[in-house]
Amino acid sequence: MAHKSKFQAIRGTRDLLPPETGLWNHVEETARKVFGTFGFGEIRPPIFEPSELFGRAVGGETDIVAKEMYTFIDRSEKLARHPRIGELGAFIQAVKKLYDAGEIPRDASNQLAIEHAEAKWSAVENLFLEKEGTKADFENIYDLLAYIDSMQLGSNLSLRPEATASVCRAYIEHGMAQLPQPVKLYYIGPMFRRERPQKGRYRQFYQIGAEVLGGSDAPAIDAEVIEMVMRFFDRLGLAGVELDINSIGHNAPDCRPAYVQKLKIELEKVKDKLGADSQRRIETNPLRVLDSKLEHEQPIIATLPRIADHLCEECAAHYAAVRRQLGLRGVIYKENWRLVRGLDYYMRTTFEITAKGLGSQNAVCGGGRYDGLVELLGGPPTKGIGFAIGEDRLILSLQESGKGAAPQGRDVYIAWMGEHAYAAAIHAAKDLRNAGFSVELPPTELKFGKALERADKLGSRYALILGDNEVSEGSWTLKTLADGTQEKFTEPELLEFLENVRVSGVRS
Ligand code: HAM
Repeated sequence: MAHKSKFQAIRGTRDLLPPETGLWNHVEETARKVFGTFGFGEIRPPIFEPSELFGRAVGGETDIVAKEMYTFIDRSEKLARHPRIGELGAFIQAVKKLYDAGEIPRDASNQLAIEHAEAKWSAVENLFLEKEGTKADFENIYDLLAYIDSMQLGSNLSLRPEATASVCRAYIEHGMAQLPQPVKLYYIGPMFRRERPQKGRYRQFYQIGAEVLGGSDAPAIDAEVIEMVMRFFDRLGLAGVELDINSIGHNAPDCRPAYVQKLKIELEKVKDKLGADSQRRIETNPLRVLDSKLEHEQPIIATLPRIADHLCEECAAHYAAVRRQLGLRGVIYKENWRLVRGLDYYMRTTFEITAKGLGSQNAVCGGGRYDGLVELLGGPPTKGIGFAIGEDRLILSLQESGKGAAPQGRDVYIAWMGEHAYAAAIHAAKDLRNAGFSVELPPTELKFGKALERADKLGSRYALILGDNEVSEGSWTLKTLADGTQEKFTEPELLEFLENVRVSGVRS
């Protein structure tokens, strides 16, 4: 029964509990297996990084970076937490040293704050010797404290809203360009975005993602990555899977920028009929208008120019080859010219996958090509493509279509009574667990009736009845709880019997 406690999981976060975690583990194991067959290895990057990494990679103007990141200042340990007023001079000098060494942000705001604080300090420093002050002195102290308060005394870090940026950072940091290319990596873990929580949308959510970095941009790579996600979903039996693909061209004057310009002109003509969000986006990011879900905007958007008709020759050829490659792999897709994605790093191929039972948050996977991202982050020119699956949504969809976790039970509940029986029960539990069975061994003696009741409540398949008599006779009783039938075994026979009827399904 749920109790109201003083502490509750923060809005948008939640506890994942058994038996549901059994399904999570099954999904993750399947991902590892399927991705392994495509030659991917696992990477586990940290969950916080410099905020600037995400600003650069995902884009400072995107919703994710501009509105949704959990950002904090990691205050330098080299600074006193609460300097006493007489120590402020030394404190300001310490801040200055960190500033010069680049250990706190070397920006105009910090520079100004330090300069002003130094000036104010020299104006009031003597007060602490003379112990007398005028109104102006107090004002100087007040200003001094305000300048100190405005300093950013550490680095800006953010909980990761996604992991592609981290994987590219790691590719550069570990010189992975020296490895045989391409490098294929996958990750599983929590991401953080301060979005409005609703079904399928959380502030801490989990992604299963994969990235292919380096080597060529052969369309076969795009197709193989997509084939891999589809294979994974197929293995899980995910229902109603639909794959949308698009190409958003690249950043050369005769490709996407020319299209965006044209789109902007057309959008200006219908501006009055669009909602406030779309009107704003005409200026900030016209492509994102195509993403709009507003009912009354749909007929207008349907008449806008389509990027597929404006790709440069190379991008058009690449897109055609990706479609051909998907065909060769038997991957069924739908072209969706409105699929533009909400992160800045994409070029050429973009794709999204939806599944059944998810309501409005029905994108279960998103991805695309991002050649140039590694270079943007300070690495060598590098091709890249990848995707991330929303694991929470994947699990929701599996549950909605009845593919939830098998109820968590026990294979064997050991109902023991008596000193001798307890010693035998401990050994039996050890042998059965070593053989891979889940066993519940009650820590204190229970009457048989009570023990069987508990065995039933725990969803046990069998109860092993061990009293002192059974132990001295070496004949153990196994009760099948579903029908109440009982059979007697010696210990080796018991193991053999259980091996033969070994339970299958998700257990942990
Ligand atoms: P994304 O489209 O932002 O792409 O996220 C990928 C998936 O994560 C979404 O399709 C959705 O299933 C899930 N997701 C996103 N936000 C939430 C949320 N608040 N709650 C629950 N699930 C969510 C990326 O993150 C890119 N890094 C994907 C990528 C990898 N592109 C190339 N490589």
